[in-house]
Amino acid sequence: MRINVIGSGYVGTTLAACLADLGHDVLAIDIDEDVVAALNDGRAPIHEPGLDDLVADHAGANLHATTSYDRVPEAAVTFLAIQTPSREDGSIDAAPLAAAAEMTGEALADTDEDHLVVVKSTITPPALEEVRSALFGACENAEGRVGLATNPEFLREGTAVEDFLAPEKVVLGTEEAWATERLEAVYEPLLAAHDAHVVRTDPATAMLIKYANNAFLATKISLINDIGNVCKEFGVDAYEVADAIGLDDRIGEQFLRSGVGWGGSCFPKDIAAIIAAAENEGYSPPVLDAAVELNDRQPERMLDLLDDHVDVTGKRVAVLGLAFKPGTDDTRNSRAIPIIEGLTERGAEVVGYDPVATENMRERFPDIEYTDSAPAALDGAHGALVVTDWDEFATLDEEFDAMADPVVIDGRRIVDPQEGIVYEGLTW
Ligand code: UGA
Repeated sequence: MRINVIGSGYVGTTLAACLADLGHDVLAIDIDEDVVAALNDGRAPIHEPGLDDLVADHAGANLHATTSYDRVPEAAVTFLAIQTPSREDGSIDAAPLAAAAEMTGEALADTDEDHLVVVKSTITPPALEEVRSALFGACENAEGRVGLATNPEFLREGTAVEDFLAPEKVVLGTEEAWATERLEAVYEPLLAAHDAHVVRTDPATAMLIKYANNAFLATKISLINDIGNVCKEFGVDAYEVADAIGLDDRIGEQFLRSGVGWGGSCFPKDIAAIIAAAENEGYSPPVLDAAVELNDRQPERMLDLLDDHVDVTGKRVAVLGLAFKPGTDDTRNSRAIPIIEGLTERGAEVVGYDPVATENMRERFPDIEYTDSAPAALDGAHGALVVTDWDEFATLDEEFDAMADPVVIDGRRIVDPQEGIVYEGLTW
């Protein structure tokens, strides 16, 4: 099938390359000429394991890129994978997405063929209505032939290609039978090879499924962090508790790793957006509010634990891990940000280390020191805060001997407690 993917960010590029891998003929459309050139050269414009290979395999064959909307009508489906920036109050700004929908509508104004426009970006029901008016306002004559659907993504950074090609579920939010059939045809090669659940519903419900999925997972982590803080007060290991409760199928063993909390570009943004959208309708969701509040407090609890052992004013303190999770250089909403801010407020000299995320964090905190290795950060430090669960931190051992005050506060349960150091786990 001929498919357009508008927007070549993290979601759009993964989608375009994976759809090409399923055998479709894909045209990626992006306003950024460098991104288009990279794709046509067979290079992925973003870093994601496995993506470079897919782009290299299909570029020039059944994956092409362009800045123009001219060829939009030649395809049967157009996916919109455009960024939705957050406003100050947490709500999403759907203007860039609506602008892309309008240009798609203009391109489809005279089409004689049925064409399905599918929103991939995560958007609230009011934003969906904004996109609907922009699209259909631009192609009034084609109404009836152009359809609008939603199809949320459940990709994790670091395993996006794998998650796309072997999904647990595919959610199709459509309004007409032909639209459902067409989206099913898009995913047919994948569904034939995998035992994924297909959820067929309307466009707004499909998007609420996506928000609920992320809100539930983030709240699950906040709940285990809440319980973990209680465990710590009683000297109980929250991981032993989590392992046991995870055996109950109704709870499940995943997303029970307690610690310094959730970050990244998805959980914080999506939960803020759904809270803001609900508040706009007059409902303030108390459990989601609490999940965010608890998440904001975990870094402060880590700093309090450090304060119990060292006065860090004027002293060098190591922050191990700057990425929001291991396996990525993404520092958006990383828990390391409030940790660095809290240490700076205390007058500490912060020294940060991360195997891949240093340059991204340097943009936000240009004035702190960064080292090329964990041992170099620990050298002479009066305390270390472990914020990301990179595997390499599990092997640290005599490197702690070089610390001026060997106090280690672990926010991810990755460091091995050992003789000669004061070790504090956040929830154990
Ligand atoms: C998340 C969801 O897992 C994906 O299903 C979703 O598609 C994606 O958001 C999105 O909306 O695009 P991602 O942000 O890549 O994916 O990261 P996760 O692996 O879910 O981790 C999120 C945060 O939770 C990280 O900071 C991680 O350290 C933290 N976490 C995760 C915990 O603190 N404890 C856990 O047990 C699990």
